[in-house]
Amino acid sequence: MNFKLSEEQLLIQKTAKEFAETELAPGVVERDEKKIWPKEFICKMSQLGFMGMMTSSDWGGESLDTISYAIALEEISRVDASAGVVMSVNNSLVCSLLEKFGSDYIKKKYLNLLATGEKIGAFSLSEPQAGSDASNMKTSAVKKDDYYEITGIKNWVTNGINSDFVILFAMTEKELGYKGISCFIIEKGWDGFDVGHPENKLGIRSSDTCELYFDKVKVPESNLIGSEGQGFKIALSTLDGGRIGIAAQALGIAQASLDASISYSKQRIQFKKPLSENQAIQYKISDMAIEIEAARLLVWKAAWKKDQKQNFSHLASMAKVYSSEVAMKASTQCVQIHGGYGYMRESGVERLMRDAKITQIYEGTSEIQRVVIGRSILK
Ligand code: CAA
Repeated sequence: MNFKLSEEQLLIQKTAKEFAETELAPGVVERDEKKIWPKEFICKMSQLGFMGMMTSSDWGGESLDTISYAIALEEISRVDASAGVVMSVNNSLVCSLLEKFGSDYIKKKYLNLLATGEKIGAFSLSEPQAGSDASNMKTSAVKKDDYYEITGIKNWVTNGINSDFVILFAMTEKELGYKGISCFIIEKGWDGFDVGHPENKLGIRSSDTCELYFDKVKVPESNLIGSEGQGFKIALSTLDGGRIGIAAQALGIAQASLDASISYSKQRIQFKKPLSENQAIQYKISDMAIEIEAARLLVWKAAWKKDQKQNFSHLASMAKVYSSEVAMKASTQCVQIHGGYGYMRESGVERLMRDAKITQIYEGTSEIQRVVIGRSILK
């Protein structure tokens, strides 16, 4: 066993940290307040190779391991969790899915553009009645000659507005239940494909989330990913990898909470001494540090298992459920340590608490992660 990061991983960590602190940090509060999508910064992240980190260089990516990806995503999310989720969705839910399940035609046409970050991808699985119960979808894909006709509504789509291509799951045979779900890649601008208004969210406000509407959209059969009926398994196995990304995002938020707590508690004087000299504050900071260390080991272990091509599904769920709970606890304690100041927008730390919450919800709630873990342990 070796806990030492490689030279390459250390360089990636340093690059992501410097980029986040010099480029992302200055405008992060304003982007959150005004819901501004970080376009210019996503372009720079593309130039750094952060949009297709694990994709093979044959398809425009960086051919890096999942640990490198988790490290970079933690550093980006430590400063800006909204930029973190844009990166996470493009890498784990779009590029990884296309590389694993897409035909050569699809990879040539779409993956190169997505892995270089020239184009941005979205992943649309959920529907108004199908959140945790993802297979209960109504969107239909009816086969006609050499194309499918897609009709339905998708919701809570991250990158829905700013993406160019969308991974879409739809029912090709409703009566087969989850075995009737198929996966497609769709282009923005196709007839009948409309994008909804940006949702007004509690956190990760500078990432976009919206509904997508499909009214008899004609999708060429060459844009079917995998085979008919394989869609649900494609979705779930892709989400296994995605959950490592969200766990890394949560870890970044938790680390930012610890960093801010240390710095503020050393400078804030009450009762003639810094807050950090009070045991009550030291205990809070110690608990954050302990839990962050444990969360990071879980995230890296899940990433390592994935890289070893071993079954990592339940470990990814463990990493996500634990890191997201640590992020929520650490960010709440961080606001507490900052007192009244922490409750004010300009402190910047209330954003951590708002951003942390979604990591317990998207890409499978904490309750669903526990279902995945429980089924794996008890089978
Ligand atoms: N990989 C591949 N196949 C899998 C799998 C996995 N990890 N897990 C299950 N399967 C297979 C099963 O083996 C089964 O196939 P067989 O019958 O051939 O064995 C099939 O899939 C159905 O499995 P289940 O019976 O377990 O399905 P279920 O309906 O009980 O659902 C669930 C399981 C875990 C609850 C699943 O629905 C789930 O993960 N729900 C949460 C959905 C989710 O995470 N949504 C996130 C939306 S995307 C998002 O949030 C992105 C964003 O914006 C950032």
